[in-house]
Amino acid sequence: MEPMELIRRIPKAELHLHIEGSLEPELMFEIARRNGVEIRFKSVEEVRKAYSFHNLQSFLDIYYEGAKVLLHEQDFHDLTRAYLERCREDHVVHTEIFFDPQTHTHRGVPFETVFKGIQRALVEARSEWGISSKLILCFLRHLSEEDAFETLRQAIPFKKDIIAVGLDSSEVGHPPSKFKRVFDAARAEGFLTVAHAGEEGPPAYVREALDLLGVRRIDHGVRSIEDPALFAEVVRKRIPLTVCPLSNIKLRVFPRLEDHNLKILLQKGACVTLNSDDPAYFGGYLNQNFRETVRALCLTSDEVRTLCENSFEGSFLSESEKEEWIRKIRELK
Ligand code: ADE
Ligand code: ZN
Repeated sequence: MEPMELIRRIPKAELHLHIEGSLEPELMFEIARRNGVEIRFKSVEEVRKAYSFHNLQSFLDIYYEGAKVLLHEQDFHDLTRAYLERCREDHVVHTEIFFDPQTHTHRGVPFETVFKGIQRALVEARSEWGISSKLILCFLRHLSEEDAFETLRQAIPFKKDIIAVGLDSSEVGHPPSKFKRVFDAARAEGFLTVAHAGEEGPPAYVREALDLLGVRRIDHGVRSIEDPALFAEVVRKRIPLTVCPLSNIKLRVFPRLEDHNLKILLQKGACVTLNSDDPAYFGGYLNQNFRETVRALCLTSDEVRTLCENSFEGSFLSESEKEEWIRKIRELK
């Protein structure tokens, strides 16, 4: 099957998606209107024009601003449901979603409001469309350790529905070591762990995420390859890298998609997965990331299959669920 048809038909899991990053300008305006929240843009076009970034921080500034329209449980529900509709279109059958509670609790929105809105949409998507999901709570790394501990405390009543904790926001200057004790406490509570590392930050941050935070996956991790011993370990231990090609171009991690190292990482045997990160801001959902990456890097159909098999292997599904999806991919002719 040629790659473009395969992309449409193959079942896939998404492992790196910030729910706040799926807020499309149209929905931002609709929610702002019904909540009576002022936004500094006059139109959807004006918002899209502002989505031109020169690094991670310039994106984060506008991403946190957009999230200010989200106030009520229904807002978080509608946001999540809209993303899950895109999953359905793209044949994403399983998704592991990041949410950033501190972005909301710092504005006075209770943790429970955020969680319940997202969770209700996840339950609906499972029963209406058969899409399975997991939730991952991300600590904002530009905030303090103490703030992360407070967020962890707020999550405890909901822990049966939160599979893992992660680490996102401004990477450089906020190494994983800053959060070692919070991650220890989270693991003691039964949470799995992941972390953004090696996006803008150096490979040393990937090393810390593995050794100090006990992570099961590295989010991005494209710079791991700069440290040969580290990269050899990532390959040998099959530590999944949740790579986000369109994001990396928008945030200037690579100058052009043709320069992205995804194909090299894959050819060197890393467990690479492909993801959309913040699709409303970076120009496309999962299949768009696949299409553009296949074109730019001349990925083969076999490489597309490997990326999709890796997405299930690297997920937090049970071993039997993983095997079942990988079998379905292998049966797809
Ligand atoms: N928050 C949302 N998207 C992010 C990214 N790509 N890196 C760090 N923090 C983020
Ligand atoms: Zn991310």
